[in-house]
Amino acid sequence: MCGITARVGDDEALDELLTSLTNLEYRGYDSAGVALLDEDLEVCKREGETDALKRAVAEEEPSGSIGIGHTRWSTHGPPSDANAHPHTGCEGRVAVVHNGIIENYESLRTELRSRGHEFTSETDTEVVPHLVEERLTAGHDPEVAFREAVACLEGSFAIALVVEGDETVYATRKGSPLVVGLGDDANYLASDIPAFLEFTDRVVYLEDDDVAVVRPDGVDITGLDGAPLRRESHTVDWAPGDAEKSGYNHYMLKEINEQPFALRQAIEGRTDPAAGEVVLGDLPAGTFEEIDRVQFVACGTSYHASLYGVALLQRRGVPAAAALASEFAADPTPVDGSTLVVAVTQSGETADTLAAIREIEDTDARTLAVTNVVGSTAAREVDDAVFIRAGPEIGVAATKTFSSQVATLGLLAERLHVEAGDGESFDAAFLEGLERIPEAVDQILDRRRAEQVAEAYAGMDSYFFIGRGIGYPVALEGALKFKEITYEHAEGFAAGELKHGPLALVTGTSVVFAIFTGENDEKTLHNVQEVKSRGAPVIAVAPESTTGIHTVADDVIEVPDGPPELSGMLSNVVLQLLSYHAAELRGRPIDKPRNLAKSVTVE
Ligand code: G6P
Repeated sequence: MCGITARVGDDEALDELLTSLTNLEYRGYDSAGVALLDEDLEVCKREGETDALKRAVAEEEPSGSIGIGHTRWSTHGPPSDANAHPHTGCEGRVAVVHNGIIENYESLRTELRSRGHEFTSETDTEVVPHLVEERLTAGHDPEVAFREAVACLEGSFAIALVVEGDETVYATRKGSPLVVGLGDDANYLASDIPAFLEFTDRVVYLEDDDVAVVRPDGVDITGLDGAPLRRESHTVDWAPGDAEKSGYNHYMLKEINEQPFALRQAIEGRTDPAAGEVVLGDLPAGTFEEIDRVQFVACGTSYHASLYGVALLQRRGVPAAAALASEFAADPTPVDGSTLVVAVTQSGETADTLAAIREIEDTDARTLAVTNVVGSTAAREVDDAVFIRAGPEIGVAATKTFSSQVATLGLLAERLHVEAGDGESFDAAFLEGLERIPEAVDQILDRRRAEQVAEAYAGMDSYFFIGRGIGYPVALEGALKFKEITYEHAEGFAAGELKHGPLALVTGTSVVFAIFTGENDEKTLHNVQEVKSRGAPVIAVAPESTTGIHTVADDVIEVPDGPPELSGMLSNVVLQLLSYHAAELRGRPIDKPRNLAKSVTVE
């Protein structure tokens, strides 16, 4: 959802700025731009992906040692050169990049127009350079002008700004992520660490209302009122190569293949089946003793992982429910001191999920974030955070992080079983099964069945996914993945719900993927028969030892046997591969599906 970056040094900034923008493309890719400052301020921006910008800079040759850049996911105004960032004021002395939404931009525009300002874009962002320019004209220095302009803004935003004649980048955030990178030869700013990871791994996470003044030789952080603030720097443990494609055609395929490693990292050091221990972050034994129930809040793939978590918890005697975060904020579930509210979020920056957590901040409920990003807003705003340790995920379609979330929620379910549910000890068979999952995923990755099936059923009108129990969230996730990257009509249903409506959609030109887990398989088999008698081909995704499906299903994709509760994690990998290959056959832009962004920082 828009990527911001800045590079502040003594030498040419453009190359690193363009690298950072390419690294940030997963946040938006409908237009991109840079502003570079030497003696003059030069802006170059284009509709389209960063490649279009690269062609433009090759012609226009902007240069400077201080630079800001932006890759856009449109909110106000369609993708166009004019709406691309950076935006400038009337005199071109100020350039601004912005992520988020300035809610009072219309009234600010009206006021500015009445004072003679002219606008060249439809964006909310453009008010900022005009506000700053007015204050510069009134004689304020750039830092004061920036602070005063920011004080006029309502909404959620991360902003970076340069002013002609001042070798500094000014930045602030409110509800949108912004991280400072401290390098040896230059300092950086970005919406997300992968932007500058190949240049530095030393970061400072900015907090809401922080103002960062970034110069070639250092970074000062103050409050909006100008009072100095101490923000610690951290060294991130992601290697630069983690955010590269490493020979794969797409990040998505790379990340699917990284799952065995990511899963090992999620579990490593956290289980000791023999000693009957589950260690989760800094959460000491007994942390959850007061908890009676769990309420998940999440969006997209993380919501599906939460539904998986609900199933794991309920089976362990812990009442649990999952809410779509956007709906939770609109209509909050009542919570109290005995509720554990778990925000599941890969990025830790999803606006809807943050809004849901903030909705209950004045209650006694305990909050926990299950996230991939150390230092993310979610991790900082909750009582406790557990990290899924999946490494950076760049493909817009979440893959490895779903698996790592489910593994982590499995560990959490075990803790809650013992501390808050009716369990007397940890379930050793489950924990051992979890430790074997990476190897089972490896076996799936070695097979080509999903690719063959994607090819065999390429010409259908609709793709349905059904599952029961643990298979249900997997069916939802399978359909989400399929529709987001193939652009085909795909839907996921609870297998038993099919006959209550969706069956009307099933014809000979739709195909149904049925998830079997080793639990309630006979019932799912009945649902498959219902589909078959309407002429639709059925592909079963099932553990190897499942009986009775080979004579009914048109195709079977097998996954290794193991505990039924974990079987869904394996079926999910099959469905990821299916979607990937189906999208590849159709020539889709797999890592950057149309209209979507990886990190959605607006509600
Ligand atoms: C966007 C992404 C999805 C992701 C969802 C929630 O829609 O495209 O892949 O599942 O946001 O993101 P989060 O970072 O909160 O898990």
